[in-house]
Amino acid sequence: SFEQSLRPQTLTQYIGQDKVKENLEVFIKAAKFRQETLDHVLLYGPPGLGKTTLAAIIANEMGVNMRTTSGPAIERPGDLAAILTALEPGDVLFIDEIHRLPRAIEEVLYPAMEDFCLDIVIGKGPSARSVRLDLPPFTLVGATTRAGSLSAPLRDRFGVLSRLEYYKEEDLREIVLRTAELLDTEIDMSAAVEIARRSRGTPRIANRLLRRVRDFAQVRSDGSVDIELANEALELMQVDRLGLDHIDHKLLKGIIEKFRGGPVGLETIAATIGEESHTIEDVYEPYLLQIGFLQRTPRGRVVTHAVYRHFQMEVPSE
Ligand code: ADE
Repeated sequence: SFEQSLRPQTLTQYIGQDKVKENLEVFIKAAKFRQETLDHVLLYGPPGLGKTTLAAIIANEMGVNMRTTSGPAIERPGDLAAILTALEPGDVLFIDEIHRLPRAIEEVLYPAMEDFCLDIVIGKGPSARSVRLDLPPFTLVGATTRAGSLSAPLRDRFGVLSRLEYYKEEDLREIVLRTAELLDTEIDMSAAVEIARRSRGTPRIANRLLRRVRDFAQVRSDGSVDIELANEALELMQVDRLGLDHIDHKLLKGIIEKFRGGPVGLETIAATIGEESHTIEDVYEPYLLQIGFLQRTPRGRVVTHAVYRHFQMEVPSE
């Protein structure tokens, strides 16, 4: 689809994450040189940084097909067996949200990852017996927002562990320019920089903001994006100068106004602002921690003075 074609297809087209890219390039080349399947790869880091895109690039660079599933989609051992037995030799199996794989499924996965075989139990009671099924060699690419939630035995079975970081502003700017080109949209450098700056280090957000700014440009103007239009559109979308949206605001202001800046426990914050604690932990907190707006202490979350300054509020005295 067109949406798919917006995504980079090769490591060369993929902007940013230089360390991850350099490493993968070596491992892919070496595996191809030896005519082997690539070792299993675990991609971890905050959402929207391109884990799915990288998995597809790995498959493409290896010249194989990718099958996609997710942790919560695999409920019974049979679900996994069906997927594994349908693989072609060398295929990439992409499991998104792999930390949500049920424990019983993990145990089926271990021998599949290690020896490319599947132990299945046939029958019940005294006549039950176990048969070993050979699988085609494959590369498991797992993606997770929380590597810490993976069981140690599962984590240990990945040969390559790659952590994705928030993107630098220059890389996001390049991504915005690239997407604008693919969308046939003219954009000023300063507008691209502004969108990059407000994207929380996240390409998915940058591309989403670009699309909405482009909507404004087409309806309110001549279709090309300049800095005034970008600023106006971003303002209307309630994305502030640092890219914080109304949920970030609710979170930070909630801690300030209801808990005098903290410390306050995650579950308490979640209940106060009406968001899932997992969503706060996986989606909102990582960036706020990264920019130094939030700190984790043994007694809970604390907002920093930078938050008061950002909101032009008086910094409380100690
Ligand atoms: N689109 C989304 N993420 C990208 C990336 N890292 N490089 C190029 N285009 C992208």
